[in-house]
Amino acid sequence: MMRFDIVTLFPEFFASPLAAGLVGRALGRGLATVHLTNPREFALDKHHRVDDEPYGGGVGMVLKPEPMFAAVESLPALEPRAVILMTPQGQPLTQNLLHTWSRLAQVVLICGHYEGFDERIRHLATDEVSLGDFVLTGGEIPALAILNGVLRLVPGTVGKPASLEAESFSQGLLEYPQYTRPAEFRGWRVPEVLLSGNHEAIAQWRAHQQRIRTQARRPDLWRRWQGSEGAPPPGD
Ligand SMILES: C[S@@+](CC[C@H](N)C(=O)[O-])C[C@H]1O[C@@H](n2cnc3c(N)ncnc32)[C@H](O)[C@@H]1O
Repeated sequence: MMRFDIVTLFPEFFASPLAAGLVGRALGRGLATVHLTNPREFALDKHHRVDDEPYGGGVGMVLKPEPMFAAVESLPALEPRAVILMTPQGQPLTQNLLHTWSRLAQVVLICGHYEGFDERIRHLATDEVSLGDFVLTGGEIPALAILNGVLRLVPGTVGKPASLEAESFSQGLLEYPQYTRPAEFRGWRVPEVLLSGNHEAIAQWRAHQQRIRTQARRPDLWRRWQGSEGAPPPGD
């Protein structure tokens, strides 16, 4: 059973996201466990202080190293494991990283807060990850994004494994457009091919849509995919 540890000053943040939807069901069925650890409980001075002013001056408070090290070192260490530090300075989160981590026994997620953390806290981490080129108030949302994305790849969480194979990024391309009933809504008709019952034609249409959609919306992904597949441009 996979183990997640979230090291956070705000454990209460996780109550409903861990209880709701597929994540709640997967945890309820014992596919993984989540343990919340608060570094404040490891701050040994009488005020349980976890932050302090930055050396050299500047605005905001910086997370101190001692409580964070003590919190992470208090955790059992299962192998193989990743210790992932949330930081806008990390590598951008990708589906590939989620796949890699979904095969581990333990994923430890360290959430920063305030103006950031003492540089020495980086020594705790095997990976540093950013949710994107923007700044949030804390690492809780990025940690939750990683937990959610990893857990849905753990066998048994998502009902039909085929849905994981077809979705965006799994083959390096965005997903094709999806439709459901009704066949016509406010004048927008579902493409005829999807109503045809011709499975080969549908597969071809979807593959083509994936390509033109990726090329139009994400030229960066498209170039990478072309490089890896030696793929011809859409329409060929
Ligand atoms: C206000 S941010 C600090 C940002 C820091 N001053 C900097 O410029 O890198 C507080 C914490 O939120 C988390 N955080 C904020 N934005 C993030 C992002 N895009 N990806 C991952 N973690 C983020 C990190 O744990 C960070 O230490």
